[in-house]
Amino acid sequence: MQLKRWLTVGAVVLAAGGVAGAAPATASHPVDPSQQSLRQLGMRHDLYIGTAVDMAALADTADPQYREIVSREFSTVTAENVMKWETLEPTRGTYNFGPADELIAFAKRNNQKVRGHVLVWQNQLPSWLTTGVSNGTISKDELRDILRNHITTVVKHFKGKIWQWDVVNEAVSDPWDTPSTLHYKGFWAQNLGPGYIADAFRWARAADPKALLFYNDYNIEAFGSGDPANDKTQFVYDMAKALLRDRVPIDGIGSQGHLGTQYGNYDTIQVAAALKKFAGLGLATAFTEVDVRSQMTAGVQAGDSNEINPRLQASAANYSVLLQACLADPHCLSYTVWGFTDKHSWVPGWFSNPPEGMATIMDENYQPKRAYNLMKADLIHSGPPYVQPRIPQKPRR
Ligand code: XIL
Repeated sequence: MQLKRWLTVGAVVLAAGGVAGAAPATASHPVDPSQQSLRQLGMRHDLYIGTAVDMAALADTADPQYREIVSREFSTVTAENVMKWETLEPTRGTYNFGPADELIAFAKRNNQKVRGHVLVWQNQLPSWLTTGVSNGTISKDELRDILRNHITTVVKHFKGKIWQWDVVNEAVSDPWDTPSTLHYKGFWAQNLGPGYIADAFRWARAADPKALLFYNDYNIEAFGSGDPANDKTQFVYDMAKALLRDRVPIDGIGSQGHLGTQYGNYDTIQVAAALKKFAGLGLATAFTEVDVRSQMTAGVQAGDSNEINPRLQASAANYSVLLQACLADPHCLSYTVWGFTDKHSWVPGWFSNPPEGMATIMDENYQPKRAYNLMKADLIHSGPPYVQPRIPQKPRR
């Protein structure tokens, strides 16, 4: 009896403390929510907050802060590069799982879920594959076998360790491509036809029945991008609907969320409506690669606050739009940023003419920007009735 009473009191104290490592809250000293991490605040809504991880930065012993922030702030991680084909299978039939396994081990130690990125994509393919196809030594039939083998081997290797797989990435063209009418683009569609998408999901499901299987793309944050006949979000919606009609095991849509402050972008209401429409098909959603870049004008580079402040504000507002929209739909399971510090961001390397940068939530010295604090505020100042806990997705058979 005595012991039981003690246990009950202990449980109450723990519950009041709320978060591991935080001092117990009391009426006179409530927990200050702004001192909690993104991952702790996300858990108020069962929402996983993630980041892409650069394995070189994670391993850098001279920079322990990177590792410390990945573990403190995030409840899910994505390999920025080491699960891509060129890294996993640099030579035909020879797999290099080492770097990806390191991330899986890190995530396990830190109680984080892993998003698998990526099984099928037209970029970062090994040259044995692309050259073999272009010089005709790999036939179309053989290419299909190669794809099935790769998916099966990779998904089986990580079986039970991946929460969400990006099965197919960026399969749809953009209005600025030729032809401008939206179509299935890139290496796989050109060589195998669009049927590879359904195949990929079926092969992935056969190799791991429990991982959630996602289609992932950019510029699909909201419906209504310009010409309604050329709306990429609508195209992806129609694709998902057709896949479900054909009983293809797709569980979710990943919206990458690569935005720029120089564009018009969307508001929370529009983005929430898109997520709800995908949920209406019975799909989960996730923001998978959020970053909001800005043009690095001469003024920005010279430190002119008149130019820097509006960029910081616009960047924060866009991070917030996507996060609020995700909070608004209980089928939106995770919100992942594509790197969390300007010290390690793909943006300056990829968008160099004109130069772009300032895309992440912390600066090069790991100082939080207002985007970081706005994300925290969104997670703190939201809840029922309009923000409900996440509804877990069951893998479709
Ligand atoms: C990027 C990485 O961040 C870079 O380091 C790499 O050089 C190129 O790829 N969409 C995706 C991601 O799905 O895999 C890309 O990642 C960014 C765009």
